Amino acid sequence: MKEKINPFEYSGKILSALKPGILLNTYDEKFNSMVIGWGHMGIIWNQPTFTVYVRQSRYTKPALENTGVFTVSAPLEGGLSPEVMKVCGSQSGRDVDKASLFTLEPAETNNVPGVAEYPLTIECEVLYGRGQDLKRMPPQVLNAFYGGNPDEEDFHSAYIGLIKDAYIIK
Ligand SMILES: Cc1cc2nc3c(=O)[nH]c(=O)nc-3n(C[C@H](O)[C@H](O)[C@H](O)COP(=O)(O)O)c2cc1C
Repeated sequence: MKEKINPFEYSGKILSALKPGILLNTYDEKFNSMVIGWGHMGIIWNQPTFTVYVRQSRYTKPALENTGVFTVSAPLEGGLSPEVMKVCGSQSGRDVDKASLFTLEPAETNNVPGVAEYPLTIECEVLYGRGQDLKRMPPQVLNAFYGGNPDEEDFHSAYIGLIKDAYIIK
């Protein structure tokens, strides 16, 4: 069962869970989930959105490009389990099947399941995606995250996802 929510009423919970890690789920050839620690929930073009940042090397990156949809899963209390943090935060969907970690719950507006274990769920459709231009980064950011190299190939792309649905899986 799903209890529909206004995601902005849960923004405190979602954003405080974000820094330690929540899940960005995709479904291209298969279900996959990666930990994200960066993101924004807000308004752009008068629409409710959730924006995620994904490095070029992630298995998730072509899945987002190919499908244009994702779900975000966050815990209602506490954080991700150590195992989920390890597998989804450091291993690639190219090498491992992450679906076996979760009880998948079919989504309402796309084919990317949420996960019952982390029930706060936001379904998104990518409105806009763009790679960051490292040549325009402030030096401290370039140094901290991109090895000081403006030609670093493993930069992040931002994907602005239109929030299509939001609920708590019960
Ligand atoms: C706490 C935490 C936060 C992370 N945040 C991000 C993020 O916002 N963007 C990103 O590209 N990778 C992030 N990562 C790294 C990915 O989760 C990790 O590389 C993952 O294995 C990628 O999975 P995939 O290759 O199946 O897509 C984070 C990892 C951790 C542990």
